[in-house]
Amino acid sequence: MAQLLVTGGAGFIGSNFVHHVINHTDHHVTVLDKLTYSGNRASLSELPESRVNFVRGDIVDAALVDRLTASADAVVHYAAESHNDNSLRNPHPFLQTNLVGTFALLEAARKHDTRFHHISTDEVYGDLALEDPCRFTESTPYNPSSPYSSTKAGSDLLVRAWTRSFGVAATISNCSNNYGPFQHIEKFIPRQITNVLRGIRPKLYGSGHNVRDWIHVDDHSSAVLAILEKGRIGETYLIGADGEKDNKTVVELILTLMGQPADAYDRVADRAGHDLRYAIDSTKLRSELGWQPEYRDFAQGLAATIEWYRHHEDWWSAGKDATEALYALLGQ
Ligand code: NAD
Ligand code: DAU
Repeated sequence: MAQLLVTGGAGFIGSNFVHHVINHTDHHVTVLDKLTYSGNRASLSELPESRVNFVRGDIVDAALVDRLTASADAVVHYAAESHNDNSLRNPHPFLQTNLVGTFALLEAARKHDTRFHHISTDEVYGDLALEDPCRFTESTPYNPSSPYSSTKAGSDLLVRAWTRSFGVAATISNCSNNYGPFQHIEKFIPRQITNVLRGIRPKLYGSGHNVRDWIHVDDHSSAVLAILEKGRIGETYLIGADGEKDNKTVVELILTLMGQPADAYDRVADRAGHDLRYAIDSTKLRSELGWQPEYRDFAQGLAATIEWYRHHEDWWSAGKDATEALYALLGQ
């Protein structure tokens, strides 16, 4: 049994990871989460208090981070400002949390000699052309586009420097777009599902030809656990499940699965600097650590996700009007 400190454990991917750890290991988890607009305590409410301890706090708070890290065997660092559109509106919290917060955690891991796993994104690599046969690998050069992805790239570089210069026992994973339960409704898939449930037409940015490489969030969790248990210190692992789809296809599939005409959506203003395509080559993770995704049928995983939002309106409905009001200001 190990004691894990999971930052951002009340967010989408962090809370799914905590569920995964409780269901598949005997580890104990302390969640450190600021409960920003995107964190939700209710995402952890069904978990046993004997194994999950919740601390509300900021990863920028060095004294708090130091105290919690001192009693952890490993830190799994999910906490971040995570939404590209928000980073275009106001980059400031992205620099604070993603850079200064990661710095505070690394200093604590260095002081207490604590194993550290850093959760990052494929967006650090920039984007690929639509017709390019290539995919991102661990050796693709960094070329981030947005304030969000540039701060994630910066946080990755901090982790690498703390490993090389100070010997912090760290690994990094860069994953593609996740979908599944507990995702904030500002994000593409839950925004469209909850729009349809509310009788609002889905909103597609620009041409809709942009491609994302979708992975079910539970497959992300199993990959992170594999890296934590078997990954080589100092290494980066890309996580992806061969799920490339363009946005137009995804919105049409959501509408069809929800019994609506496939073209019942609106085209809205495009995102500034909108990355064209992400695609992950996860050969290293699969061949070194023997990891495989469980969710191979996107339509099936999407249908289950739609059902989850249909049955958990209490989890998402309070924030729906405010989320849509913010998008309306930008014509999106
Ligand atoms: P999210 O926005 O749903 O959750 C972020 C969580 O971090 C929230 O609970 C929030 O309250 C918390 N948080 C924010 N600032 C904090 C601070 N200063 N101190 C403590 N807690 C704070 O994000 P997500 O989609 O779950 O993403 C989690 C991580 O995974 C991020 O690091 C993100 O870059 C990465 N990632 C996300 C995706 C994706 O598809 N969503 C893909 C690859 C990587
Ligand atoms: O690739 C990993 C990244 O995936 C993570 O690092 C980010 O934290 C996560 O938010 C996600 O970033 P994206 O910008 O790709 O996700 P988002 O859900 O915001 O948008 C997905 C695609 O859908 C993108 O091409 C923009 C488009 N979109 C988005 C919204 C909200 C729409 O067409 N309409 C919308 O309403």
